[in-house]
Amino acid sequence: MKKFTQRVGAEMSQKANVFIDKIKKTKTESRLTRINSILPHDMEEATRPTLYRGLKYWGKKPHNIWREIIVRNTNINDTVYDPFAGSALTFFESIKTGRKPVVADINPITLFLVDTYSKQFNLNKVANLAKYIVDKLKDSPLYKQNFRTVCSRCAKETDIYNYRVEGTTPFALSYKCEHCGRTTTDKYEGNISFESFNLWKPNYDMKVLSSISPSFIKTVGGKNIANLWTARNLEILSFIFDEINNLNVVEKDALMFAFMQILHLTTKMCALRSEKTNRPLSTSWGRPAYLGLKSFMEQNPAIQFERAIFGNSGVIKCLKSRNTYLPKYTYSTDLKDIDKVDGIVLLQDSKEITSGFKPQLVLTDPPYGSIIQYGELSQVWNVWLERYSDKYKTSLNKEIIVNKNKDYSQYISDMTSVLSNCQLLLYPDGTMILTFNSNDDNDWLALEAAINKSKMVLKEKLHQKNKRSSEANICDKLGLGITDFYLSLGRSDVQMEGAV
Ligand SMILES: C[S@@+](CC[C@H](N)C(=O)[O-])C[C@H]1O[C@@H](n2cnc3c(N)ncnc32)[C@H](O)[C@@H]1O
Ligand SMILES: [Zn+2]
Repeated sequence: MKKFTQRVGAEMSQKANVFIDKIKKTKTESRLTRINSILPHDMEEATRPTLYRGLKYWGKKPHNIWREIIVRNTNINDTVYDPFAGSALTFFESIKTGRKPVVADINPITLFLVDTYSKQFNLNKVANLAKYIVDKLKDSPLYKQNFRTVCSRCAKETDIYNYRVEGTTPFALSYKCEHCGRTTTDKYEGNISFESFNLWKPNYDMKVLSSISPSFIKTVGGKNIANLWTARNLEILSFIFDEINNLNVVEKDALMFAFMQILHLTTKMCALRSEKTNRPLSTSWGRPAYLGLKSFMEQNPAIQFERAIFGNSGVIKCLKSRNTYLPKYTYSTDLKDIDKVDGIVLLQDSKEITSGFKPQLVLTDPPYGSIIQYGELSQVWNVWLERYSDKYKTSLNKEIIVNKNKDYSQYISDMTSVLSNCQLLLYPDGTMILTFNSNDDNDWLALEAAINKSKMVLKEKLHQKNKRSSEANICDKLGLGITDFYLSLGRSDVQMEGAV
């Protein structure tokens, strides 16, 4: 990365601006031609249906704009390809509109989502199994010693929602009393003590991750990923996980979906909210980074699990939303089945996907340089998911990304491979649409280099305002924090109107 920066030097910023200018100037249409254009101008991002809120993933795109792009550029039964599928938006919007999705991602979360939403669950059974697990947990000495307290208002026993912890010492606790209903934060001076359930726990060396610093490892107390959780939270998580894993009914997948929701919310990476916000029961994993916090909120995994089942974005609501939003679908992980199923999902490196289907549209949100380390951050979930089933094997080394182990020249050559593959796969008059967003000139230059090397041509652009403000690290001088660029590319070997 250093070399690249030195090579490009001071000209870099100027060059990136030339590319961005070119994008900005690409095809400005009259009102009339806009209606027929590849991209939906003047469209606002709509509120996401619940099914898209179930799992955390960074950079989720507006579903309604995605759907409009699919509808404009394909006919029913056409194939839509997404080589960087993430939270599987392209898959679901294609299913919704009667198109055939083929999506790929090296992150098993994509496959997990498509798989879970393809299944029919008895929701009463999901609720009952969750209650059974939580009751059993709450009956254990570990839970009673660590997550029960006496309400300071009504003197009755109730669940602790969270502890505030400084270093390794809890100094306060909060709860919403199950008897008097009041929310209280009390000082805490007790000791932590419990016996282990002796169940499986993740064991993964975080030192292999480029985004982990020695000071992070020191702050969390060791290089094993298990240290992302406090020892007692890890015990409870291992208990819930084991209970789910031992089930042999289809509903276990719905419970695993809820378990995935609580993993990041129960780590030491959840910051204390200031007293001013007056939300003592709430926190989150605030930024897409491994956060080594001196003080943090240790959330009760049992309460989080109940929320992940019954809450507003919980599994039951997600599945009900799935039922109304999507038709039933079948899928396969083998391209040979493409004519027999409604969609294909590949847990595969898209650099290696070169044949087996012919998309009319490629619609994708590629990785933007080094902004979000998708693979590394997803280890929080994937170390558990891999253990849950062999079909979710994770391999980070094929990820297209810029970090300490992978420089820009690697990124350019990787992105060139994927773009070239897409060009090869696409119908001659097919379109490729990708979104891009970065405040780093290097990222824009790398994208431009990959587009040029793959010999694709820019046809149209859309500068889309969106509602998201959470990706605070993507805001800057170009106003990119609240906007995404949508670029449409065509095959260079096909004559096109309006190409620049
Ligand atoms: C910007 S994210 C996509 C986010 C997506 N828009 C969403 O809504 O979730 C890019 C994705 O590319 C995936 N990816 C990176 N390298 C890949 C590769 N070689 N093959 C397939 N997928 C890859 C990452 O795992 C990540 O999910
Ligand atoms: Zn009370």
